[in-house]
Amino acid sequence: MVQLATNVGSLKLQNPVLAASGTFGYGLDLVDFCPPEALGAVVTKGLSPKPRIGNPNPRIVETPAGMINSIGLQNIGVEAFCTEVLPTLRQRGACVVVNVFGETEEEYATVIERLEKEEGIAAYELNVSCPNVNKGGMEFGHDPKLLASLVSGLRPLTQRPLWVKLSPNAPSPLAVAEAALSAGADALTLVNTFRALSVNAKTRKPSIATGFGGLSGPAIKPLALRLVWEVHRAFPQAPLVGIGGIMSGTDAVEFLLVGASAVQVGTATFRNPGACLSVLSELEA
Ligand code: SIN
Repeated sequence: MVQLATNVGSLKLQNPVLAASGTFGYGLDLVDFCPPEALGAVVTKGLSPKPRIGNPNPRIVETPAGMINSIGLQNIGVEAFCTEVLPTLRQRGACVVVNVFGETEEEYATVIERLEKEEGIAAYELNVSCPNVNKGGMEFGHDPKLLASLVSGLRPLTQRPLWVKLSPNAPSPLAVAEAALSAGADALTLVNTFRALSVNAKTRKPSIATGFGGLSGPAIKPLALRLVWEVHRAFPQAPLVGIGGIMSGTDAVEFLLVGASAVQVGTATFRNPGACLSVLSELEA
């Protein structure tokens, strides 16, 4: 038996492989391929105070070594998650990290206040990096002052760990990392998708309805590794969760080597719904 347990700050995880937000539903959608309780944790799709229908279709396109999405944070809303999904995740013994999204500071607070009434949540991951919405998302994650205000406003609402998922599109990723940490974030998730464009030469239009979207997958792995490495060098004590194009156990090791304590597998799940388990068993090997 290989000992794979790790800590992200104060949070103990049975292993360092997490399912990334937006690629694993709410934790139960892929149980036949990957039971959530086998992973270090599952990170839910971003939850907002009310359900959201997201952006118009088409909203995903495959690109060389990756994909671009512009989902627009479609989700069932925090109430439905608490009543319809969380009880089963709890019963299965899954470690649940809830990704939290709001268009305003108040909306982030509303989601956390509702989740605080529930047992069985290990941590919150603040989504301040979605490139596909007009309000919220990157707006907070690109501006150190706005981000510090958001994190320090949410900090008193919970004893649970607050992770902040950062945008690689920020003018200064180090400045926003520092802002989040100084304001009380327990860990940083690095990184969300890169703003990108795919054009269909036949239709002469963007491949997805909103034009731009966020690029993920192997194409971004070297970029994500560089950002994890830089943030780790600048803030060596800060717990980091690495994400960006992880397809194999070796990819996961690379992120651990540059300073991450755990990793998230995202786009790989679209190709193989059991990808998180394959990464885990390859890591173990
Ligand atoms: C989306 O829902 O558009 C993607 C979420 C994200 O990039 O944070």
